[in-house]
Amino acid sequence: MWRRVTSLSTVIGSSKSSLLNLRQAGVNFREAFSSDVQTSAEGRISPKGKTPFITFVLGGPGSGKGTQCARIVETFGFTHLSAGDLLRHEISLNRENGAMILNTIKEGKIVPSEVTVKLIKRAIESSVNDKFLIDGFPRCEENRVTYERIIGKEPNIVLFFDCPQEEMVKRVLSRNQGRVDDNIDTIKERLKVFKTLNLPVINYYAEKGKLLKINGTGTEDEIFERVRPVFSAWRYRSKHFGLV
Ligand code: C5P
Ligand code: MG
Repeated sequence: MWRRVTSLSTVIGSSKSSLLNLRQAGVNFREAFSSDVQTSAEGRISPKGKTPFITFVLGGPGSGKGTQCARIVETFGFTHLSAGDLLRHEISLNRENGAMILNTIKEGKIVPSEVTVKLIKRAIESSVNDKFLIDGFPRCEENRVTYERIIGKEPNIVLFFDCPQEEMVKRVLSRNQGRVDDNIDTIKERLKVFKTLNLPVINYYAEKGKLLKINGTGTEDEIFERVRPVFSAWRYRSKHFGLV
């Protein structure tokens, strides 16, 4: 199933050698690090008049997506858009969708894709940045297809934090963020949704050669050292070839 998932465990060293290693690992550079490819004719989103560089960040609940996104923001200047945070913000605004979103999150289920994609689109369009981490999205095939229809562009790369289930449960139960869904019953449902709906999407990107699988175990620093080469390679490419 994970035939084409790229492992970063051997991807270390300077930006230039990181680039070479990533290429050996099967990542399609021309596509992944170009801002021009796979944009629909309509070119629907373009902050600052440029096509943005989009990274999807996937992994189960507690796999470290949010923590690592914060590190990428700090080191490489990306804007972090967490689909979960956008939905929680929508609940706090008391808009018409708020109650539906809250109930869906409480049940650990997936909010209708149009709702989530519109929030992501609005956040991208209102940003002055042109490089984004979209965390916790797409959660299912319907999310993925709706994003492509509304945004008109596939992601440039997809990170997947791979972490054993017991470790993820331990992290979620100990993080104390006051979330309505960080309880054992909802976590069980979220893990079920992850396996049945999210893994097929992850596999889809693996088949397309866009997925970078990262070992999500260890300390925050250890995991970030596995993430760093991806963005060092991107920065090298953008500096030397003028892409996003
Ligand atoms: O990613 P995070 O753990 O913050 O997501 C919390 C919840 O938000 C999910 O369990 C799900 O109910 C909802 N969500 C969603 N669609 C997404 C991302 C999150 O419905 N793409
Ligand atoms: Mg999160």
